[in-house]
Amino acid sequence: MLQIGPFQTDCPVLLAPIAGYTDLPFRLVCRAAGHTGLTYTELLHSRGILEQNRDSLEIARVSEDDQPFGVQLYGNDPDWFCQAAQWAQSQGATLIDINMGCPVDKVTKTNGGSMLLCDPDRTTRMAEAIVKSVSIPVTAKLRLGWSDCELTAPRLARQLEEVGIQLITIHGRTTAQRFKGFANLDGIAEVVAAVRQIPVIGNGDIDSPAAAVRMIEHTKCAGVMVARAAIKRPWVLREIHDRLTAGQSPVEPTVLEKIRLIRLHFDLMRRFRGDRLAMIVMRGRIAAYGTRLGHVKPFKERVRLMTSPTEFDSAIDELQQMLDPSWTTVPHWAFFEQACANHPDEVGAGAAAISP
Ligand SMILES: Cc1cc2nc3c(=O)[nH]c(=O)nc-3n(C[C@H](O)[C@H](O)[C@H](O)COP(=O)(O)O)c2cc1C
Repeated sequence: MLQIGPFQTDCPVLLAPIAGYTDLPFRLVCRAAGHTGLTYTELLHSRGILEQNRDSLEIARVSEDDQPFGVQLYGNDPDWFCQAAQWAQSQGATLIDINMGCPVDKVTKTNGGSMLLCDPDRTTRMAEAIVKSVSIPVTAKLRLGWSDCELTAPRLARQLEEVGIQLITIHGRTTAQRFKGFANLDGIAEVVAAVRQIPVIGNGDIDSPAAAVRMIEHTKCAGVMVARAAIKRPWVLREIHDRLTAGQSPVEPTVLEKIRLIRLHFDLMRRFRGDRLAMIVMRGRIAAYGTRLGHVKPFKERVRLMTSPTEFDSAIDELQQMLDPSWTTVPHWAFFEQACANHPDEVGAGAAAISP
């Protein structure tokens, strides 16, 4: 059980904020295929929210099927942060997460993201102001520090807890490291040891149930957050959940279930973000999804070159028909059936066609 202020979740597996990926359609896909205690929007500039920037508002879009979820904000100005947090609260966010880990120049040049690690006292004062400005929980996502010489995360985490931050997620790398090397589990353990009672979520390189178990055993963190692995395999969230909560071994979805998931993603994209963006996104994602489908190069090529949603539908229908029926094992994804039932418009005829 993960306690985040007044709110509880029995799933210790969180879907990470991932810029360019965790929009509402993808978060719903992860909920359908995975099992997540909490999803997050990608990082949103607090000023972009206040200026009602169209992209920011689109990214912050809420659905009752995607609860609980956090809106992640970045910036450096306490007033903007507080106002943006109040806006997110008014839109139905379960919590606000402050980005203190983004290493990207565009973000750090404005003194946001992981630059906040460099001045723990100022960052703590800003976090306190945000906590006081809303009634929902406020959480923070950190890296270990700017570089190996400045590992500020344990001190900052302790200070953040003192001013009311309700959960810390720690990615076990420094800003200088970006994504190189491996997540430093000892560094994460130091952050866990530094706080008194709030949950600390371990993050970095978790791509399987075994990696999640290793993270928890080594660091004693309260839960795990998954980013890159969920892009290729949204069902990895469920595999980790089942291992952590019931000791179950992972069950790989069948190829037809994976196809159904791709279809669901495309249809949700069309519904929430329009045909043009749905095609752009799916052309880019099909390579990642395709790695788990076996030998489907012609199909991937057709999706990559599609010029209309109908072409996508024909390509995926033909792939489905081409598959050996013996691959259609009895569906073990009752939750997935349920998700499709919740979104009947999206799954349409394709879903009916693969029912046993
Ligand atoms: C493409 C990409 C975009 C990301 N965007 C965000 C973001 O918007 N906010 C954030 O806090 N972290 C972001 N991250 C970092 C991830 O949330 C996570 O901390 C990191 O990828 C390590 O986890 P992993 O090993 O499971 O991928 C991003 C990572 C990637 C690869």
